[in-house]
Amino acid sequence: MNTTNTDLARILVTREAIQTRVGEIARQIDHDYRDASRLLVVGILRGAFIFTADLTRQLAIPHIVDFMALTTYGKRTTVGEVRVVMDLREPIENEHVLLVEDIVDGGHTLSYLQRMLADRNPASLRTCVMVRKRRENALARIDYLGFEIPDAWVVGYGLDYADRYRTLPFIAELKPEVYRK
Ligand code: IMP
Repeated sequence: MNTTNTDLARILVTREAIQTRVGEIARQIDHDYRDASRLLVVGILRGAFIFTADLTRQLAIPHIVDFMALTTYGKRTTVGEVRVVMDLREPIENEHVLLVEDIVDGGHTLSYLQRMLADRNPASLRTCVMVRKRRENALARIDYLGFEIPDAWVVGYGLDYADRYRTLPFIAELKPEVYRK
């Protein structure tokens, strides 16, 4: 039985709003990197695969795309230890790197990644995030942000709960009873 729709509390960001915002961010990135010879876009798997695909297809500047995969140990809705399970294929020294993430909550994952990639001496390192939960004291620096959302568990547009709901075309809040089961 398909229980997806009954599991959702409400849609927070519609498909149309996402498409418009991705286009705006792409034009901002085109502008900001107009003098760079090329941009290396690094998507963080698995959550950012859809955002990375949509964003890069809107970029006009020369760019290449690579991915890293992370895993977080610990319970699914709390902060755990971050580990790289698939690294970049090439060194990033002297490259202009744009990290693409699906979501920032406390910022733990992103700040870990930023520190790790900064140590590899890129020419520059910026971060693009689709959604950020509204919180005080978030750790990580974000250069391009799609949307701020309330502090709830959200799914869709790459975001999952227990590997489900990733391919929904919008971002929706999951009913608390689904993730507290
Ligand atoms: P942070 O380290 O607290 O910023 O958590 C970021 C990571 O937790 C993300 O990369 C996601 O994998 C996961 N995450 C946090 N909140 C959500 C959510 O609402 N939906 C889906 N994944 C989330």
